[in-house]
Amino acid sequence: MKIREFGVEVWMNEFENDCAYNLAETCVESLTIAELLALCGADETALGDLLSMKMTYGAIEGSDRLRDAVCGLYDSQKRENIVITHGTIGANALIHQTLVSRGDHVVSVLPTYQQHYSIPESIGADVSILPLRWENGFLPDLDELKRLIRPDTRLIAINNPNNPTGALMDRDFLTQIVEIARGCGAWLLCDEVYRGSDQAGDGMTASVADLYEKGISTAGVSKVFSLAGLRLGWIAGPVDVIHAVSVHRDYNTISVGMIDDHFAAMALENRDRILARTRAITRDNLAVLADWVAQDPSIDWIKPQSATVALLKYDFDMPSREFCVRLLQETGVMLTPGSAMDMEGYLRIGYANNIAVLREGLARMGAFLARLRAGG
Ligand SMILES: Cc1ncc(COP(=O)(O)O)c(C=O)c1O
Repeated sequence: MKIREFGVEVWMNEFENDCAYNLAETCVESLTIAELLALCGADETALGDLLSMKMTYGAIEGSDRLRDAVCGLYDSQKRENIVITHGTIGANALIHQTLVSRGDHVVSVLPTYQQHYSIPESIGADVSILPLRWENGFLPDLDELKRLIRPDTRLIAINNPNNPTGALMDRDFLTQIVEIARGCGAWLLCDEVYRGSDQAGDGMTASVADLYEKGISTAGVSKVFSLAGLRLGWIAGPVDVIHAVSVHRDYNTISVGMIDDHFAAMALENRDRILARTRAITRDNLAVLADWVAQDPSIDWIKPQSATVALLKYDFDMPSREFCVRLLQETGVMLTPGSAMDMEGYLRIGYANNIAVLREGLARMGAFLARLRAGG
């Protein structure tokens, strides 16, 4: 099966281990196991629970404890609506593999996580792109979506909150998309891995799984739960979809690791404390980034409403990859070029990591931009 290279992953693999100031990272600063235990009100003695854990394959679809904890993130999902996967990346891959066949019509927003258009394309689906435009605050144009859908549209793939723009569709906006999807009977897949990081309120937007009988939510513990090392995600959706996914999943997953399942359950059971930390980090750090953007004459943006990333527009006639490679070589600061996500002319910055690294990285980037303005 032919498939395009995954632009962002190729970029990360090439440079991530050599940078001094990683502003390409999209996770809220990752937790150590000790920090996780502390946030959960436990200490090292809780590790004793692991000693008697017999290393079988564990519960095939994910433990009941974990699936119940996942349900706590939704209004109306029950254990049978949840299946545990190898990260959100595994959840997305399984949904596309299960629901999309050659010749099917699929609509995907762009920019988004590349899986959502490159996997259906590789399957031989007819993929229509719904561009997220600067002038619309990177939100989908719903009239354009209405024009793109067809009576036979099989699946609409959105990403909320959006990577790389940080744009956020609220409940009313999502409800309008649901109406459009319902009109043609399409599945609505929403990659919700950044859900829980909104800048306003309690940080938690509605999920399509709770809004639509054919709505499917994919998510995981990497970003807002700061536990990417667990490689743990899930699908929340109609029971029929969970069953159909399980047929494919038996061929490529069997189960996730029991230790990963254990720590993920612990984190989700203590989600209030972990998400409070996430809100504090994302809100403090975005304020730092906003101050920097406001005073730099070469950078413009649509300020993110959620997630951990922002798309920056830069005022130089230079390909984004060249910009990022020079920035990295001259300053040690790593961003992600828009070209890696089919958004030439932009740079993606991840701002939810260590605030000292963010401040120093921005200072270095500011000096680099000043040199470029001076013709350097
Ligand atoms: C929108 C989106 N979906 C999925 C993933 C993959 O997440 P996970 O680590 O849970 O597999 C990422 C990671 O960058 C992402 O940004």
